[in-house]
Amino acid sequence: MLATKYLGLDLPHPLMVGASPMVDDLDRVRRLEDAGAAAVVMHSLHEEQLTLEELATHDALDADHDPFVEAASYLPKPEAFPLGPGEYLDQIFRLKSAVDIPVIGSLNGTSMGGWLSYAQLMEQAGADALELNLYAVSTSLDESAERVEDRQAEVVRAVLDQVDIPVAVKLSPWYTSPPRFAKRLDDLGVAGLVVFNRCLQPDIDPEALEVDHRLQLSHSDELLPRLRWLALLRGRVRCSLAVTGGVHQAIDAVKALMVGADAVQLVSVLLRHGPEQLAAIRRDLERWLLDHDYDDLATLRGSMSLERCRAPAAYERAQYLKVLQSWRHHATGRIDG
Ligand SMILES: Cc1cc2nc3c(=O)[nH]c(=O)nc-3n(C[C@H](O)[C@H](O)[C@H](O)COP(=O)(O)O)c2cc1C
Repeated sequence: MLATKYLGLDLPHPLMVGASPMVDDLDRVRRLEDAGAAAVVMHSLHEEQLTLEELATHDALDADHDPFVEAASYLPKPEAFPLGPGEYLDQIFRLKSAVDIPVIGSLNGTSMGGWLSYAQLMEQAGADALELNLYAVSTSLDESAERVEDRQAEVVRAVLDQVDIPVAVKLSPWYTSPPRFAKRLDDLGVAGLVVFNRCLQPDIDPEALEVDHRLQLSHSDELLPRLRWLALLRGRVRCSLAVTGGVHQAIDAVKALMVGADAVQLVSVLLRHGPEQLAAIRRDLERWLLDHDYDDLATLRGSMSLERCRAPAAYERAQYLKVLQSWRHHATGRIDG
């Protein structure tokens, strides 16, 4: 009833484990498989981590002359990463021997470089697919949006050239025209798009005059921007679509599937309540479909996408004015009330 296809992989249902350190522990991955996870994504190997490793191997750590080395001093030390690059590849191999579900490797970075060769190494270690996380913060006053996108597309192409396994790209929400960039990646041949990266926002501590980078787990309201963009993409790109960010209950998954997701990634909810929560969400999802007379997921999937929903303007600018006005109607008339 819940069967789906994601990145060309046949999955018994759409609920999978998103990129996180949960995969570092074999027992936890077995528990996730026992709870019914359809697939797991490894946490990422980061461009910075791999470049540091490369520099160390070439004995090039000369901070006086190499600007990268100076910049690298702001990065976590290699030992701060849960798995070194070699251990990471070993872990893919171990996971593939320990569980039957698909294991998806994850690479995280945005510039061309030797670190990209890890795509091929992950494939050789047994990964069933790859997720490429294009997390970027554009701080330059000189680099245009077009140039940023060109650079990212170049990285995607380089990864696609290296591997035969399917590659998904995990997108950030901050593109001026997300559908155009999504279409560009689709045309390049990516097998899937993961919508969206959770861009961690730094807070500041006004007393200590420090920037505070604490990682908070998500809440369901983070799902909303994902719903809109999935709705806008469904049926307009050929590749498959996954949601990540803000799925905590079966009803969140229902919404993501209705706007067009083929797969639903879970992280915060599993970190908060444990791997077994996945089984509960799956049960509730199945019950919801039965209670609402859906025979299978295909009937539900995309039924609220821009292409198919009864009021497509709801996803566009027109709705913005309506929403502002509706607040006035609901309110008592006092702006400060
Ligand atoms: C502790 C933790 C570690 C994460 N590590 C990664 C990572 O290595 N690579 C990545 O692409 N996303 C990573 N993420 C982001 C998640 O994969 C996911 O996109 C995000 O948490 C939103 O999903 P959620 O609302 O289900 O938590 C991490 C998230 C958490 C909470």
